[in-house]
Amino acid sequence: MEIVRMDQVTKIYYGKVPYRALNNIHLTIKQGEFVGIMGPSGSGKTTLLNMISTIDMPTSGEVCIKGENLNQLKKDKLALFRRKELGLVFQDYNLLETLTLGENILFPLMLNKKGLKEMEHKLEDVAKKLDIFDILDKRPYEVSGGQKQ
Ligand SMILES: Nc1ncnc2c1ncn2[C@@H]1O[C@H](COP(=O)(O)OP(=O)(O)OP(=O)(O)O)[C@@H](O)[C@H]1O
Ligand SMILES: [Mg+2]
Repeated sequence: MEIVRMDQVTKIYYGKVPYRALNNIHLTIKQGEFVGIMGPSGSGKTTLLNMISTIDMPTSGEVCIKGENLNQLKKDKLALFRRKELGLVFQDYNLLETLTLGENILFPLMLNKKGLKEMEHKLEDVAKKLDIFDILDKRPYEVSGGQKQ
């Protein structure tokens, strides 16, 4: 099954001088594949991931995830889709500085109005997997870059 499909994706940043960051990209990622994208700094990796994660929209072309055409989703649907279907580790973290790491992890579950028991269970599960139990009560500015990620 195709998880990600990009067709003819072009992204142009319209600053003072327009910049073509992605030019006619085709990409298919199938279920179970583990894909790494490599390239020099400034070559467009983050731009590409922003297209896949719906953080930004292509200038032209199509992005589909599990058959759903992201360009056609309304803002609300897109937010829900992002929260339920996608996981993303950002290059610059995007943690909420006033919350602890544990609270940061719980935040999306709160938006989904999950019960306290389920939230605690999921937090424990993910903390165990990542071996981060001892830093859950720390705030983002108290941990290292790798720990933030
Ligand atoms: N918001 C923006 N406005 C204008 N140009 C941008 C913007 N974001 C990125 N660019 C340009 O697009 C190109 C691709 O940037 P991108 O952040 O995708 O690179 P990258 O491959 O992730 O680099 P790095 O390895 O340094 O993280 C770069 O030349 C960058 O200067
Ligand atoms: Mg980048």
